[in-house]
Amino acid sequence: MKSPLADAARRRLESVPALREKLLPLKKIPGEPLFVYEEAEVLSSYKKVTDAFAHEGVTLHPFFAMKSNSYAGLLKTIVSAGGGLDASSTRELAFALAAGAEQILLTGPAKTEKEFAYVVDHPGRITVNLESMRELELLGRMAKERGVKVRCGLRVVTDHQHGWTKFGQPLTQLRPFYDAAKRHASLDFSGVHFHTSFNGNPDRYVRTIQEVCAYAREHFSPEERAECTYIDMGGGLYPEDLLECTYPWNDKLERMHASAKVLQDIRADRIKPRVIPPQIIPMQDFASAVSAVYQDAVRTTFPHAELYAEPGRLLSNNSMHLLLTLIDKKEDWMGITDAGTNMIGWEKYQYFYYSPVFNLTHFSAEREVPFFLYGSLCTPDDLWGYYLHCSDVQEGDTICLPYQGAYTYALAQNFIRAIPPVVELSS
Ligand SMILES: Cc1ncc(COP(=O)(O)O)c(C=O)c1O
Repeated sequence: MKSPLADAARRRLESVPALREKLLPLKKIPGEPLFVYEEAEVLSSYKKVTDAFAHEGVTLHPFFAMKSNSYAGLLKTIVSAGGGLDASSTRELAFALAAGAEQILLTGPAKTEKEFAYVVDHPGRITVNLESMRELELLGRMAKERGVKVRCGLRVVTDHQHGWTKFGQPLTQLRPFYDAAKRHASLDFSGVHFHTSFNGNPDRYVRTIQEVCAYAREHFSPEERAECTYIDMGGGLYPEDLLECTYPWNDKLERMHASAKVLQDIRADRIKPRVIPPQIIPMQDFASAVSAVYQDAVRTTFPHAELYAEPGRLLSNNSMHLLLTLIDKKEDWMGITDAGTNMIGWEKYQYFYYSPVFNLTHFSAEREVPFFLYGSLCTPDDLWGYYLHCSDVQEGDTICLPYQGAYTYALAQNFIRAIPPVVELSS
């Protein structure tokens, strides 16, 4: 059956046989699952994003959203490539500074003295995306007491951030925030940030930027607008080669449990199509649409504003692979691996998303059959997938979920089993 995936995702799948050669020697001990970190993938994702914008004549400044994967090696890779880091807590700020980042954004709700203590210690390295007037007043006071000037901006929400209203401030508050910041000589208020997750196309980015620019032209003088040094469009764009799909029996991501009938249908391979691929615009088309609005609206409204982004998944998705061993084959359609889904923190593949699972030992790139691959936690809600790419299945086989670096390692937890170690793949 022809894969329903988009071209980029199909090419990504075609890379698995070569990846297999590199991964197979790494999984030596049954009972010891691994995260495998692949630096080359991060560098390639980083280059793809920045090149796409450069091709449109725009310099994009990526600040990697550490929440998607805070593995120290990955942070160092981003910094070595010239990128900044986007942190959302004291924990992430400490990681960002330890990784040597010179350009750090601090973004996220309910910031306190704890986070701002890092900021006033490193005012040249950290820019704060403010979320409330309380934060602004607190930061202004702490920076004054410390005798430093801190660069900051406001996180705004518009109708295009539907569902994200707990964050930031309505766009109409930008003027009052600017005026309040002006009362603090310790604050250099000079940016606007917004964010929404789960985007397959540029629409929300483009519309929000247009709205911010229209508001600014109405409420700020040209001299005031010239003070703006960054427009930060957040993260949230899906990588075009994402292998994750939804299940037709839960395409709205609503139903938690597959019914007994659905499970029977999966086993009998009666679900057709098996999965529904995501709709994701190619990176170059995304860059083209955002660059156009940057050139047409941002440049004319905020002549000195640089374009910032906070990509998480876009840079981390392909950075890690999960390596497991099949310990018990209990039926010809079902088995248990050495890793539990504590390795990824939630029941992602059981209830929500499909991602291809490969038997690297008895390998087949083409043949994918119903096989319920469970984890080893003491809970039934612990499943890696309902289908397996394989030529055969035997106990001791090495199993891989490739390109699963986003929100897996970052969400892993010591539940029953310890979080597995990371090994690095040399290129
Ligand atoms: C403020 C902010 N920036 C960036 C991101 C990264 O999003 P993604 O990993 O989807 O690119 C998030 C994720 O929730 C976020 O909240």
